[in-house]
Amino acid sequence: MTKLWGGRFTQTLDPSAVDFSYSLSFDYELLPYDIQLNRAYVDALTTAGIFTTAERDIVQASLDRIRDRIPQIIANLPDDEDVHSLVERLVIDDVGDLGKKMHSGKSRNDQVATDLRLYVKDAIEGINTHIHACFKALYDLASDHVDTVFPGFTHLQVAQPVVLAHHVLAYFEKFMRDQHRFADAYERADQCPLGSAALAGSNYPLDRYQLAESLGFSDITRNSMDAVSDRDFVLDALYAASMITLHISQFCEELILWSSSIVGFITIGDAFTTGSSIMPQKKNPDIAELLRGQAGAMLGQFVAVHELIKGLPLTYNRDLQDDKKYLFTALKTTQASLNCFAKMIPTIRVNTDRIHAALNSGHILATEIADYLAMKGLPFRSAHEVVGQMVQEAEAQGCQVHELPLSTLQTLSSHIKPDIHDWLSIEAAISKKNGVGGTAKTSIRTQLHHIKEAFKW
Ligand code: ARG
Repeated sequence: MTKLWGGRFTQTLDPSAVDFSYSLSFDYELLPYDIQLNRAYVDALTTAGIFTTAERDIVQASLDRIRDRIPQIIANLPDDEDVHSLVERLVIDDVGDLGKKMHSGKSRNDQVATDLRLYVKDAIEGINTHIHACFKALYDLASDHVDTVFPGFTHLQVAQPVVLAHHVLAYFEKFMRDQHRFADAYERADQCPLGSAALAGSNYPLDRYQLAESLGFSDITRNSMDAVSDRDFVLDALYAASMITLHISQFCEELILWSSSIVGFITIGDAFTTGSSIMPQKKNPDIAELLRGQAGAMLGQFVAVHELIKGLPLTYNRDLQDDKKYLFTALKTTQASLNCFAKMIPTIRVNTDRIHAALNSGHILATEIADYLAMKGLPFRSAHEVVGQMVQEAEAQGCQVHELPLSTLQTLSSHIKPDIHDWLSIEAAISKKNGVGGTAKTSIRTQLHHIKEAFKW
């Protein structure tokens, strides 16, 4: 293994320890960021008088050549201990002793913390683009189904009628919160630790604000000991990732259920379903199932990093090296999941016949009758009791509660008048819920309008 240290050692590292501590196999993902960091750092060292401008140009040109070779380097990873050792060694191989000045006043500790923050910021920007595609897909689906009445469920039992757009926009809200969580994670990642060196700060007159600015950070970290030990931003990003994949999992579970031949509310397009190797008739929602399955591992990755950090004393400890394994996997899976989800949603086709059949089950208008009675002056708890009896009667007659003849309803409650008919349709039940957040088509249209304005679609 090529390494940056060794002066004080008489023996070489045991091969098992070499293998165990080698991180280039995964931290090569930081290559572009480490090169970018070194480039900016060489500028800072030039201002600090360590490099002449001519020397700076030579080292930076070398870093540029390394950047151009990233794909080849990744295709054939050398045995350098980690990405930081690799970049420094490549510069030294290229420009000789001049390259040996590059590490003046910095440590791999502030370097890895900076690289990782750059990685997280970039990944969140990528995730954001995918979240926007999901927003658009959900908005389009909702816009197409403002008039599609749909059974709302609690406990997966038919509860009250809604419009399908309302159900879909519920996920829009969840994704909005997820986007905010990622924005928070971004903000916390957006401070530059470079200049913290190993733990105590740097002996060199580095302009940390200038360094931060040239690396695209909004601010600098305030405490070098915190800066090299802090991985809160990693956990923030992992938590946000676990939440959005959790929401994807929930929606996919519904899509899987709705697309089952038993339910038949929707079909998912051929581009996102697969066949069976034995049963020729099958059309399976495999992609939705795979999406449903990601959330558990996401939480696992959050917990893995949380437990790496638990109990770590200040400042840098090598345990931290492994945070990257979990972070990279989680953020890449998040991007891939969002990408698939956004593309699958527009392939959904809605089968209104099956939905109408479901709407005529579960005594879906029972609560409407209770509210009607309450508005006629009967205390709601008593109204609830009376409607329970009506449901019993309907069950006995083999019909829905709202299909009982007026006379039967009236024998069970003298408060029932012919105007009950204004309450006993799915459309009426929906249109009455016209407050903010309710399922009335007017409310949904307003909500869609606000979204369209906010997103400038
Ligand atoms: N590969 C290490 C990591 O990812 C870089 C920092 C090494 N620092 C050290 N003092 N050994 O955390």
